[in-house]
Amino acid sequence: MRSAVAACGHCLISMTQGEGQGMQAAGIWALTPSVDMSQADFHDWQTLLEERTGVIVSEQRRSFLQTNLSARMRELGVTDYASYYRQVTDGPRGAVEWSTLLDRLTVQETCFFRHPPSFEVLASYLQERLQAGLSRPWEFWSVGCSSGEEAYSLAIQAAEALQGSELPEHFAVTGTDISQGALSKAREGCYSGRRLEQVSDELRRRYFFAQPDGRFKVVPSLAARVCCAKLNVLELAKAPMSGMDVIFCQNVLIYFRRWRRRDILNRLAESLVPGGLLVVGVGEVSGWQHPDLVPVADERVLAFTRKG
Ligand SMILES: C[S@@+](CC[C@H](N)C(=O)[O-])C[C@H]1O[C@@H](n2cnc3c(N)ncnc32)[C@H](O)[C@@H]1O
Repeated sequence: MRSAVAACGHCLISMTQGEGQGMQAAGIWALTPSVDMSQADFHDWQTLLEERTGVIVSEQRRSFLQTNLSARMRELGVTDYASYYRQVTDGPRGAVEWSTLLDRLTVQETCFFRHPPSFEVLASYLQERLQAGLSRPWEFWSVGCSSGEEAYSLAIQAAEALQGSELPEHFAVTGTDISQGALSKAREGCYSGRRLEQVSDELRRRYFFAQPDGRFKVVPSLAARVCCAKLNVLELAKAPMSGMDVIFCQNVLIYFRRWRRRDILNRLAESLVPGGLLVVGVGEVSGWQHPDLVPVADERVLAFTRKG
């Protein structure tokens, strides 16, 4: 990730490109001063964010929280963090504002075929599954799908694997995320060329239409196989997600506490069919094991298959 340093009024804000996207989305990538945040305010907001999303804002990322909160407060004309906190936690009205704020506080950076070795492992896995015979449609799940690039990458990989078979559309992909803003973009399925850098020209021609505005839209036949839904990974116990052949959960758990990562991964493992594949971002969890899972023997990836 590139890093941007913005000099601002009375403080120096350092943020990553992904973290700055909320401000860019709001069209306020401006060097306006953010309101100072007291330790008590920081603690309240930190706790709220972790309780509701699992994401921890460490002291090092305090400026990220402060910058994005104060940008939204400026839009609303709210001058202090405590009042805004009360507004966001105030019943159903607060829930609407929370949903807007969430888009600013979550890192949604993504691209097609992010971490190519994970997709190479997936391609070999699907070839093996195909050789074993297709009994029912394959089910894929992109957990924390952001604006959809990972979900459509899975769909492309499945379509490629099944190309020439008797059942070329025998797959479905579900993308889930906590952010409604990200899910709207995923449903639109229209991307700038920069997001498609890892997509070969051949795949681009096969699965995208060039739009008059220079962007690329996913072709309807592929889009029809992808469905996106709101789901908080802290609430997996309530989710009807089971019988998955492939689950990708990359770059979602990095800001979560270790015990939460393990808890979530245990639940994902239970959502896999016997023989199913779970792919996690490299370095996102260390030393985690599940009695039903076997690690994939490829040191470039963090992936597991379910026994059976
Ligand atoms: C950096 S993006 C990762 C996108 C994609 N998986 C990838 O690897 O490129 C992280 C996504 O996780 C989502 N997220 C964060 N906390 C979440 C939660 N508690 N439940 C579901 N999604 C969450 C964010 O909204 C964001 O879209």
